[in-house]
Amino acid sequence: MDREPGYQLIRLMTSRSNTKSAAAFSRANTVIPGGVNTSLRRMNPPIVWARAEGAYLTDVDGNQYLDYHAAFGPIILGHANPAVANAVATQQREIDLVGVGSTELEISAAEKIVEHVPCAEQVLFCTSGSEATYHAVRLARATTGRRKIVKFQGCYHGWHDYLLLNVVSQPEAVGQHDPLSAGSLSSTLEEVLVLDFNDVAALEDLMARHGEEVAGLIFELVPHAIGCVLPEASFLQALRRLATQYEAILIFDEVVTGFRHGLGGYQAIADVTPDLTTLGKSMANGYPCAAIAGQRRLMEQFNTATGDVFFSGTYNAHPLAMAACLATIEQMENPGFYEHLYALGDQMRSGMQDLVTRHELDAIPAGFGSVFVTYFMDPPVRTYGDLMRNDAAMYQAFHAGMLDRGFFMLPLNLKRNHLMAAHTAEDVDRTLNAADDVLRQLSKSPAPAGQD
Ligand SMILES: Cc1ncc(COP(=O)(O)O)c(C=O)c1O
Repeated sequence: MDREPGYQLIRLMTSRSNTKSAAAFSRANTVIPGGVNTSLRRMNPPIVWARAEGAYLTDVDGNQYLDYHAAFGPIILGHANPAVANAVATQQREIDLVGVGSTELEISAAEKIVEHVPCAEQVLFCTSGSEATYHAVRLARATTGRRKIVKFQGCYHGWHDYLLLNVVSQPEAVGQHDPLSAGSLSSTLEEVLVLDFNDVAALEDLMARHGEEVAGLIFELVPHAIGCVLPEASFLQALRRLATQYEAILIFDEVVTGFRHGLGGYQAIADVTPDLTTLGKSMANGYPCAAIAGQRRLMEQFNTATGDVFFSGTYNAHPLAMAACLATIEQMENPGFYEHLYALGDQMRSGMQDLVTRHELDAIPAGFGSVFVTYFMDPPVRTYGDLMRNDAAMYQAFHAGMLDRGFFMLPLNLKRNHLMAAHTAEDVDRTLNAADDVLRQLSKSPAPAGQD
């Protein structure tokens, strides 16, 4: 059977008019390097957005997409959620930014997090997940007086030198230090010990050799940077046990999983409690808001309290972000909120399972709650190494085919999709009908394996 190159489906996108996007993008390209403000935002052909409302995105040419990208995860209610928009608009008329003292809003938002997130005795707000993980690592080093940090292959924790290595590594780089950026300080990266996710034996072995040097262990509870790899209970328990045994700080990076999978984050679902946690993304439905939370004995080491660990940020706990955060959490507290999201996720995954069976594809509709991905490979999916078997070209071609039909799924290998409360069961049915069409084409003439 002849194989069609994956890019043909991507090229189909141009069947939609994109003249205005192309013109705007050429302006962008002149004044913004690459025309986008985050590397993964680059699209080919380019898309310049005009509107985001409910579950839909509209570009400057008037093309409409049902959004499953959700801005890499923050949009959990739906775009321009009316209650969030009203709270922000009201707040805008009350206080913009003062820069000293605190506001009642940030106190209430911190109280909500303490109420819901198991490890949170105290909370500090910042503006991005990268800041939160940076502060968590520095706090772990300051508290323990040690330097080493344990992280796991496939987990992403932000853009800083403390942790920017070994995320989506090429096969030949797995097992070695694999920095993501030129200019990173190798002396900082060398302090990071990288392990395979879900590998209890390797973790035990490393801690037996280096445990007394380890300041902290950080990981995504569900590594969504590579789609959706679920943690095994024995792995989570080993992390908790070994961190306690060696007096290292256990940090759960819940920037994606926190509030998306439940009010208490995945730590409440797994019933394993870290010392510190980082939060961001869906806590404020798209407004720039993140947090570090954890045990009081640790959090008081910051110099906002009695300690000497520097914590600062002009826009920390910005009143507009705090208003958005409170209005978002209040809606997530509504009975049935997560049941709706989980039901949509189950509908999507079981519908995809029927489709891949019908089209006789080697594919795994995976995910958790409102997150869904379809890997084009055989089971199991336990570690990053397993994902080396994923057919990247098929994955990208599937997403590109969906995008061409008006369903926004990022056509990049391993990138996950998110449901939001604004999606409906009918949306999922329409999505599955389109997926049927795309998979039929791909099963007749699959994209070549091994493309990236
Ligand atoms: C798990 C995790 N931690 C940290 C970050 C960094 O967050 P931000 O992009 O807000 O700096 C991300 C971003 O995708 C993330 O997925």
